[in-house]
Amino acid sequence: MDTVLLDMDPGHDDALALLVALSCLPVRGVTTVAGNQIVEKTYLNTRRILDVAGIHCEVVRGASKPLFRPLVVADRVHGDSGLDGYDFPLIAPARSVDAFSWLRQRIREEPKVRWIATGPLTNVAVWLMGHPDLREKITDITVMGGALRGGNVTRYAEFNFYVDPDAAQYVLTSGVPVSLVGLDVTHKALLSFHEFYRFKELRTPVGEMFYQLFAFFSQHEPNAGPEGTPVHDVLAVAALAQPHLFQWTPMALHVERCDDEHRGKMTVIPSQGAVPGVNVATDIDVEGFFSWMWQQLEYYRK
Ligand code: BDR
Ligand code: CA
Repeated sequence: MDTVLLDMDPGHDDALALLVALSCLPVRGVTTVAGNQIVEKTYLNTRRILDVAGIHCEVVRGASKPLFRPLVVADRVHGDSGLDGYDFPLIAPARSVDAFSWLRQRIREEPKVRWIATGPLTNVAVWLMGHPDLREKITDITVMGGALRGGNVTRYAEFNFYVDPDAAQYVLTSGVPVSLVGLDVTHKALLSFHEFYRFKELRTPVGEMFYQLFAFFSQHEPNAGPEGTPVHDVLAVAALAQPHLFQWTPMALHVERCDDEHRGKMTVIPSQGAVPGVNVATDIDVEGFFSWMWQQLEYYRK
C-alpha cells in the first residue's frame, strides 16, 4: 500500500486511531493540529501515546489555529490536557520542525501518499493550497468529520467541521478524492462498557492507558450513553484499511462558513450530472468493524 500520513489532534479517540493505524498501515509520520486542545498539547499527547506504546514515529507540530477564526477546543470532552484520565509518564521536551516543510519533503520523496485526517482540516487545507504541483501525489484523504444528520457541537455541526469550516469546505471541494467518515456512522459504532475490560486484558501499558482513557471519555463524550461510547476517529483508519466494512455514497458537499448557528453544517448539493467529489460513509458493519479493531489491538498484547 502507498505510504500513509496521519493528521490529528489527540484526543482520546485520536489516540486509539493512532495506535490502530500503526498496527496495520505503513504510517510514515504524524502532523498535529489544534482542535481538541491547543496544538502544544495535541503535539505532546501524540508523543506521549507513542512513548507508552514504545513506538518510534515522526511527529511534527502543525497549525495552532483554524484558517480564519479563533480556536475552539473540546476541553469538556477531552479534559484540560486533551487526554485526561491517564497519568502519562513524563517525557523529554522536543522541538518540532515546521510541519509544512516536513510535509513537502515527505510527500515529494514518496511516489504516492494516502492521508488520514481526524482533527480540524487546517493543516491539510493549508498544505493543499500551497502545493498545487504536488497534489497528484495524494491518492486520497480519509477524513473523520461532518454529519449529514445532526451534529455533536451544535444541532447541525460536527466538531472538526465546526472548528475550521473554511478548511473543511476547501478540502471537500479541492478535487482530491476524499472519503468522509462522519457522525452518521460513528454514532452507530458504540463501544459498550462491558467491552472496556478487553483493553485491560491486553496486559500492557497500552491496554491500561486505553482502559483509563475510555473510562474518562465515556463520562464526557456528549453522545455516550447506556449503549456505549462513540470511538469516532478509529473509524477513519478502518475506512482506509477495510473500506468494505462501510457503505459508500458519492456526494457533492458544502460546508457552511457563517458565524451563526449553521456554522460547520454540511449539506448535500444536488448533483447536476457531474461526478460528485466526496465518497461519504452512509452505513457501517458495526460487528465487523469492532472485530477488526480488537484484532489490530492484539499487536499491543503482552
Ligand atoms: C471528532 O471531534 C473530536 O472531539 C474527536 O476527536 C473527533 O475527531 C468527533 O466529532
Ligand atoms: Ca480528533
